[in-house]
Amino acid sequence: MDLMEAIKGRRSIRKYKPDPVPEEAFRTLIEAVRWAPSWSNTQCWEIIVIRDSKIKSEVAKTVPKNNPALPSMAEAPILLVLCGRKGISGYYKGQAETVKGDWAMFDTGLAMQNLCLAAYGMGLGTVIVGLFDHNKVEEILGVPQGVEVVAMTPLGYPATKGSIRARKEVSEFVFNERYRNKE
Ligand SMILES: Cc1cc2nc3c(=O)[nH]c(=O)nc-3n(C[C@H](O)[C@H](O)[C@H](O)COP(=O)(O)O)c2cc1C
Repeated sequence: MDLMEAIKGRRSIRKYKPDPVPEEAFRTLIEAVRWAPSWSNTQCWEIIVIRDSKIKSEVAKTVPKNNPALPSMAEAPILLVLCGRKGISGYYKGQAETVKGDWAMFDTGLAMQNLCLAAYGMGLGTVIVGLFDHNKVEEILGVPQGVEVVAMTPLGYPATKGSIRARKEVSEFVFNERYRNKE
């Protein structure tokens, strides 16, 4: 698949078929994460792969009822929980190198996008889920101190196409030479 076609065609999928994810496709996804860029190649991401329906349901309970991704959490055959090891990305000898502090959120985001695009390229669906009780998920999954749960995604074959959400016009977010001084 053409790269631009993948970037523009990927949609958040919130309804899944129960069909299993082939092992080969799953390995390809993880390989896509493996090759994501990261701060000084620190690769702070870690992924918990949940196939057990009881654990999936337990994790799904941490998602608020008004989150549209909730029904898909236990529906898809796999639930991926993306974690970031803290204090590595953006750090040198234990000291934050920029005012931004920890870049784990940024690097795990890149890893997640690689995963979502690779999934789409193989006909699989994902939806990044950020709105849930992170502390509770860390507790359920036994995530140790120094590692944080960042986001989750169900993974499986889409049962819908997903709707297209409008995007801003380029002129709204690309500025020449200086930040726009309208505000
Ligand atoms: C960091 C992040 C967190 C998100 N959290 C949720 C979420 O909790 N629930 C949900 O249904 N969608 C969530 N989304 C998906 C967005 O709503 C979706 O990407 C956006 O509306 C654009 O739609 P598209 O992905 O189909 O292009 C999240 C996306 C990102 C990048």
